[in-house]
Amino acid sequence: MVDTILVTGATGTVGSEVVRQLSKVKNGIVRAAIHSPNKIDTLKQIDNHRIEFVNLDYLESKTVHEALANVQKIFLVTTPSPNSVDITSNLVKEAKKNGIKYIVKLSVMNADAQPGYAMGKLHRLEEKIIEESNIPHTFLRPTSFMQNFVNYFGQTIRNQNAFYFHGGDVKIGFVDARDIATVAVKILTLDEDQYTYNHKSFNVTGQEMLSYNQAAEILSKEIGRKISYVDITGDDLRKGMKQSGMSDWLIDVIMDSLNYIIRGEYGSQTSDVIEQITGRKPISFDQFVRDYSRYFR
Ligand SMILES: NC(=O)c1ccc[n+]([C@@H]2O[C@H](COP(=O)([O-])OP(=O)(O)OC[C@H]3O[C@@H](n4cnc5c(N)ncnc54)[C@H](OP(=O)(O)O)[C@@H]3O)[C@@H](O)[C@H]2O)c1
Repeated sequence: MVDTILVTGATGTVGSEVVRQLSKVKNGIVRAAIHSPNKIDTLKQIDNHRIEFVNLDYLESKTVHEALANVQKIFLVTTPSPNSVDITSNLVKEAKKNGIKYIVKLSVMNADAQPGYAMGKLHRLEEKIIEESNIPHTFLRPTSFMQNFVNYFGQTIRNQNAFYFHGGDVKIGFVDARDIATVAVKILTLDEDQYTYNHKSFNVTGQEMLSYNQAAEILSKEIGRKISYVDITGDDLRKGMKQSGMSDWLIDVIMDSLNYIIRGEYGSQTSDVIEQITGRKPISFDQFVRDYSRYFR
């Protein structure tokens, strides 16, 4: 029997890549879970008859029930919210009922650190629910995505040749979402007698530690014009997030997490997890900028 793999967050940064890469694997069916139907077009460009589309809103149990029917494996993406734990509990209960064989959860760097930070703690609570279910699982704990430069900084890089962030001068092992997806696909497509990564968690980073200033230098070199990093205060970032309509709860979670990163507690070294699991080196930041240059021009 071929596996049906449910990819949640299928229109998101990592989920869409998991769908794209799974659609190229020979065996199995990919079920892409769509939260906002108006975002489905990005995935429709992936030309593959093995993709099924299903509506999924974690807050509507009927859609959770329908999305998980006849599924064997899940790529699980949740977004930070005050009810993340309830969302994961409900989903895992449904997974248990359906005899799900494997869950790969997208978590966050150092989710189990003590005393840790708000985003890590939220993900750790969700991880524990999966651990307690006894469903075979792997937790992927990435550092900051390279794609944040497109999603959050792309517009001002294009219009003002600058990006504004509260990032200090700490170095981060930025990781390409495509590499996280490759790791996830590798694990999700293993046969049961090869579940070598079961019950394991991995901090997933890129191949080099870079400060935002160094990232700006690489952007300048690859795009061919000067791009500056403007290190704004925490208060200014907070104001900007408030103006964009974010809840105070989410702003507090993000600020706590950024302060953790700025203190250097995300770690000062890269991990070799991508190479270990996929057999090839992580995508460099230079390569990422070249591949996404259309978003910066
Ligand atoms: N960004 C980073 O640097 C980073 C680093 C490490 C870990 N992470 C973790 O990675 C995860 C994804 O983050 P992201 O920034 O990449 O998010 P993203 O690209 O926006 O992906 C989130 C996905 O979840 C879907 N979704 C939202 N609410 C939903 C709901 N109620 N029911 C079903 N699906 C829903 C979204 O669909 P809609 O857009 O249609 O709502 C979207 O497809 C988060 O858990 C985050 O903590 C992020």
